[in-house]
Amino acid sequence: MTAENRLRSTQWFGATGRAGMAHRSWMRSQGFTPEVFDGRPVIGIATTWSELAPCNVHLHRVAESVKRGVWQAGGFPLEFPAMALGETMLRPTAMLYRNLLAMEAEELMRANPLDGVVLLSGCDKTTPGLLMAAASVDLPAVMVTGGPMLNGKYQGTDVGSGTAVWRFEEDLVTGRMTQEECAFAEGCMARSNGHCMTMGTASTMASMAEALGMQLPYSATWPAVDARRYETAQRAGQVIVGLVRDDLRPSAIMTRAAFENAIRVNAAIGGSTNAVIHLLAIAGRLGVPLTLDDFDALARDVPTLVNLQPNGQYLMEDFCYAGGLPAVMRELAASGLLHADAITVTGSGAGANVAGAPCWNREVIKTVAEPFQPAGTGTAVLRGNLAPGGAVIKQSASSPHLLKHRGRALVFDSPADYYATSNDPDLDVDEDTVLVIRYCGPRGYPGMPEVSNVALPRKLLLRGVRDMVRICDGRMSGTAYGTVVLHVSPEAAAGGPLALVRTGDWITLDVPARTLTLEVSGEELTARRARWEPPAPHASRGWTYLYTEHVMQADAGADLDFLVGASGHQVPKDSH
Ligand code: FES
Repeated sequence: MTAENRLRSTQWFGATGRAGMAHRSWMRSQGFTPEVFDGRPVIGIATTWSELAPCNVHLHRVAESVKRGVWQAGGFPLEFPAMALGETMLRPTAMLYRNLLAMEAEELMRANPLDGVVLLSGCDKTTPGLLMAAASVDLPAVMVTGGPMLNGKYQGTDVGSGTAVWRFEEDLVTGRMTQEECAFAEGCMARSNGHCMTMGTASTMASMAEALGMQLPYSATWPAVDARRYETAQRAGQVIVGLVRDDLRPSAIMTRAAFENAIRVNAAIGGSTNAVIHLLAIAGRLGVPLTLDDFDALARDVPTLVNLQPNGQYLMEDFCYAGGLPAVMRELAASGLLHADAITVTGSGAGANVAGAPCWNREVIKTVAEPFQPAGTGTAVLRGNLAPGGAVIKQSASSPHLLKHRGRALVFDSPADYYATSNDPDLDVDEDTVLVIRYCGPRGYPGMPEVSNVALPRKLLLRGVRDMVRICDGRMSGTAYGTVVLHVSPEAAAGGPLALVRTGDWITLDVPARTLTLEVSGEELTARRARWEPPAPHASRGWTYLYTEHVMQADAGADLDFLVGASGHQVPKDSH
């Protein structure tokens, strides 16, 4: 049997009789010549383009470049839309819809006459959503992320999207910035196509896709408006046709070794805590064993090499010009921190891809010998009676003096409850207080939004306090900073111990020991649990109902329980 005969698209376009006529004839309404049905690989281009997802708004142009490459390599490209998730627009949170995108894209890939797919993503959730879909269908796939925006420029300095927002808000509250200045700064922060140009979740997940071997080297860092992004997209179009012919699938690329590479790269770039949840969810689709504790164990030996906001100084454009992710991966490989033989979409191992990758600026990309931050300062996994399923904290975004801290809890059942009092000069709070914000988890909010790093109480900001310990079952934007314990599992809405904390309880955070302890006796917690009542359901119908009934906890990647695993790419029954 030839490779062409194995192509699933021939079961549509190679069919005789009425069904084949229907498949071909309606496609010809687009003006394609009949040769496109000659058995060549049909390549779907899944685009998450939308004007409601501004980070992805240029993906139509990227798709055109991919098409060029597919045509060049002898394939037949067909672009199709997949749910666009705009982080800044969607309420209650784009994360509520990541699994819906994954489910939609999976079904579209399987139900259509596709032999391979190119995945076009950008904004935070679109990258993991499409990777989860590709993992469950397991058709040959290449990702092309849309690239970061150019550096923001405000009053002569670089400003990072997202990261600057938190600082501008504090400056507004304390009177260091006027509302007019703030409005002007908005336009300076986001001044080109592309996703956030800090090492936020979008940049992190683009880097994860590259580290996993699912996108071509340098794909994560070319700015969205750089000609080389379009050149890389065209190359990806050529590559996917080869992957179909070689039958190289995501399950052969995203192996345990690939995930270990991604986790170590995430530590080296100072990446977002959101990568933890997304990588767990992708691994779950592939049956790759991966646990929360792997993130702590694998990251402990890895120093942070990249000096980027929110942990550091620079932005993605600088990272690109300094050598991009290959320079980081080369450095890890030289220290034995990379599985060099993990196969990638290039057909070569991760090590071969980055051998000889230059670094042009050691201010931006440091070495393992002289890192930006020492090994062991990445994302840590905490456990204890307050988080029996685990919680995470980004050490590099935290204040060192707070990593060991004991304080009294001040508890709020929602961010809205907190913000209703946070400006009150009589709020009973000081810099030692531990703010507990709960019912923000997958079921609780619902969707586990990025609300955990609540702004500090105004009275503390006015006193010059810039950080305090916060604990939450929600997430934090990858662009944000602060000593914030995140992803507490089980969440409050699922009856986790977080639901039992009361204002005035003592809480001890000990990051070096990896513990999070509520200093309340087991008997007292049992008594409190007996009086606890779960919150009323958010919905009785629709997606929110389905989601809250089936979503798993953060330590399992917050996927839906019935979406774990793969259904493959078998061709469904004929439609006519
Ligand atoms: Fe889309 Fe930041 S809002 S990447």
